[in-house]
Order: sequence, then C-alpha cells, then structure tokens
Amino acid sequence: MNARGRASAAILISGGGSNLQAVIDANVCGDSAMDIALVVSNRPNAGGLKRASDANITNICIDHTQYPNRRAFEIALKEVIDSHEVDFLLLAGFMRILTAQFVANYSGKIVNIHPSLLPAYTGLHTHQRALDANDAWHGCSVHFVNAELDGGPIIAQGRVPVQDDDSAESLAARVLVVEHKILPCIANLLAQRSIEYVDGQVHFEQRALHMPLIFDVDSGQIAKPCV
Ligand code: GAR
Repeated sequence: MNARGRASAAILISGGGSNLQAVIDANVCGDSAMDIALVVSNRPNAGGLKRASDANITNICIDHTQYPNRRAFEIALKEVIDSHEVDFLLLAGFMRILTAQFVANYSGKIVNIHPSLLPAYTGLHTHQRALDANDAWHGCSVHFVNAELDGGPIIAQGRVPVQDDDSAESLAARVLVVEHKILPCIANLLAQRSIEYVDGQVHFEQRALHMPLIFDVDSGQIAKPCV
C-alpha cells in the first residue's frame, strides 16, 4: 500500500505501451484501484516511456544491452523497483525473460499479459501460429508469472473468434482491443484483493479457481466462475 492507502504497481514494458496506456486511462477515469508508481522499460526507444511521461508517471529505462549479463540487469531492475515499494509488477509487453531468481523476489506479485489462450502458443508469433493451426478461437491471457516462459497460473482469458479472412495483423488488432480491457480489469481486481495468489493457485473472491476466469469482452467484466 502506498501513502494514499492504495495498492501500487511498477509496469514493465519493452515497446509501444498500448497496454500501459489502457491501465493509465483506467486510472485517469477513476476505474482502477491500482496506482502506477513507475514505468520501467528495458529499451530506450520504447514508445511507452513517452506515454508515461505524458501522464506524469515516473519512468526509467534500464537498457539490458548495457549490462554484462542477465543477472546484472536484473539486479539493477530490482534496485529501481524496490526503491518504489510497489505491491505488484505488471508486465505489459515486457519482452525479457525473467530468471527464477528474480521472480522468487516477488512471488505471486508479478502478472503478465500474453496474446494467446495459454497454455497454447507461449513465446512469439502467437497470432500466426493460431492461424496456421486453424484455431476457431484465439485471444489473450493474464497470468501470474513463474520461472517458465509465459508460464504460471492463469488468472483470466479473453477470447476472440478467428475469422476466415484473418491475417496475423487483423487477428492481432482484435486481440489487442481485448488486451486493453482485460489488463486494467485484472489490475483493479488485484488491487482490491479480489484476485490473489495463494500457495501457487489463483484465488478469486477467496476461493481457489480451477479454471481461468472468462473475461466477457462485450461487458468488459469477468464472468462469474464455476468454482
Ligand atoms: C501485447 O500484445 C502483449 O500481449 C505482448 O506484447 C504486446 C505489447 O504491446 N506481450 C507478449 O507477447 C509477452 N509474451 P504494447 O506495447 O502495445 O502494450
């Protein structure tokens, strides 16, 4: 909790930061209980840094190419994060793999958004891979982060139907619209402690989830789970 008695997050980015913008916008509208304490990019030219500046949010680049190895980069990253006493780390298009050692510092506090219906298609080129597999549905997942790439207990998923004439770009664009709704929604529920990480499992309203929450794209709300 910060001085205002609110939960706060560091948002980690590597690129354009449209997901970061969605969380900023939810804050500005008063739709989020999650404050953004700082934004960290591992790339100096990430567009999201300007978005943070424009919103008067502390932002810093920790350029991974300036460190001799992953460990040294992560030590610098941890130092900056810990100087802000945040409750959560939100990975919003952060494209560096985090080591088990780093993740262990923030167990149950790191959340990532990934553009696929995990566990399908971890890693890159998720939209093309969904098309190549002739999937009927694609989408995005928000999950707690563990030491595996795009691994960790899944909190919620938003689905979009794949259309016959979809290209990877058109599909990505429709998934991104859902990403921009689901991430602020989950950040808010985390801040309110409606979603928690307990003994390696996702809890929603104090009950363990056996399946990811379904994000209803039309209403922008979580559909109540069958627990
Ligand atoms: C988003 O689609 C996000 O899901 C993806 O990177 C994009 C960042 O866009 N993340 C991953 O692939 C993580 N494995 P943004 O910078 O405009 O938010």
